[in-house]
Amino acid sequence: MNTDHAPLLDGSPKMRVILAIIENVADTDATVLIRGESGVGKDLVARAIHAQSARKAGPFVKVNCAAIPSGLLESELFGHEKGAFTGAHRRKPGQFEYAHGGTLYLDEIAELPLTLQAKLLHVLQDFRFTRVGGQGELAVEARVIAATNRDLEQSLTRGEFREDLYYRLNVVELRIPPLRERREEIPQLAHWFLARFNAQYGRQKQLTPETLARLTEHPWSGNVRELENAVRRMVVLTDGEQAFEALVAHGRNGRNGHNGHAAAAGPARPVTESLREIARRGARDAERKALAEVLERVRWNRAEASRILKVSYKTLLNKITECELTAPARRLV
Ligand SMILES: Nc1ncnc2c1ncn2[C@@H]1O[C@H](COP(=O)(O)OP(=O)(O)OP(=O)(O)O)[C@@H](O)[C@H]1O
Ligand SMILES: [Mg+2]
Repeated sequence: MNTDHAPLLDGSPKMRVILAIIENVADTDATVLIRGESGVGKDLVARAIHAQSARKAGPFVKVNCAAIPSGLLESELFGHEKGAFTGAHRRKPGQFEYAHGGTLYLDEIAELPLTLQAKLLHVLQDFRFTRVGGQGELAVEARVIAATNRDLEQSLTRGEFREDLYYRLNVVELRIPPLRERREEIPQLAHWFLARFNAQYGRQKQLTPETLARLTEHPWSGNVRELENAVRRMVVLTDGEQAFEALVAHGRNGRNGHNGHAAAAGPARPVTESLREIARRGARDAERKALAEVLERVRWNRAEASRILKVSYKTLLNKITECELTAPARRLV
């Protein structure tokens, strides 16, 4: 569990409304459904609700429903008894049990298979359940927060998400607007990330008013995560302005193909890299291109992309971060 997380900044009226709702609901046990594009800060909001609740001394347990193969998800959530299935060598408690006395955060809830949606709905009635292959009922006491960047209403229409579960989860709905709809926050966020990365990398970078203006205008289809990565790049690279050019190119690149060096290089750059570096960069560019193509094709369904590319979900997420790809805005809620 990552407890070293950023505070939620309040630099826009929209964000202040969200902070007020968080404060209001934190102390109730109401189920909260957090919605918004990838990178808007859903995880941070979930942690903030927990941190402001009476449960703050209890555990905050996150389960990413898209990251766990569907066959293992039931056992992950509810645990299993020894011998429940091939490979179940010993009894294993589920995340629901670990969340006892605290908050269970179900991320990417739209990816939950229909059979498990039925079980989850049932469990949410009375917080009693049996482990996979178990007999006795267990009782837990936990608050549930769910999140999604999917159009859940469309999932309902398509029969991919149960309507009864939708209403059960949606007691309080928090919609986090994309960063482009709360641009006033960008200077505050940029300065916060700048201070953090300067400290982390031992730099003293500053943001010129010109850079700040350009940051504020940028579309940020990857939302706060993209801004955070852009500022990190500026801090790490030696020339901040070049970095900004590179970051704008990066932002467009998910769709346009990519050459991470293009902006800094100019058209007729003499070769200064070793063959090994050139080869490494070639491999990385090829990987990035394939990754971008597949993600585009599956509309950024990362679980599906990891199956197609035959890598684990975790590896895929790492590659996405490494290649600095960001989801296009259209996947939106
Ligand atoms: N208001 C904010 N203040 C400071 N940092 C923020 C804020 N919002 C988001 N971030 C940072 O942006 C990054 C993305 O946030 P987070 O992981 O919460 O997004 P998300 O909506 O859960 O994305 P995904 O749908 O991809 O899981 C994190 O590193 C987080 O710390
Ligand atoms: Mg998240």
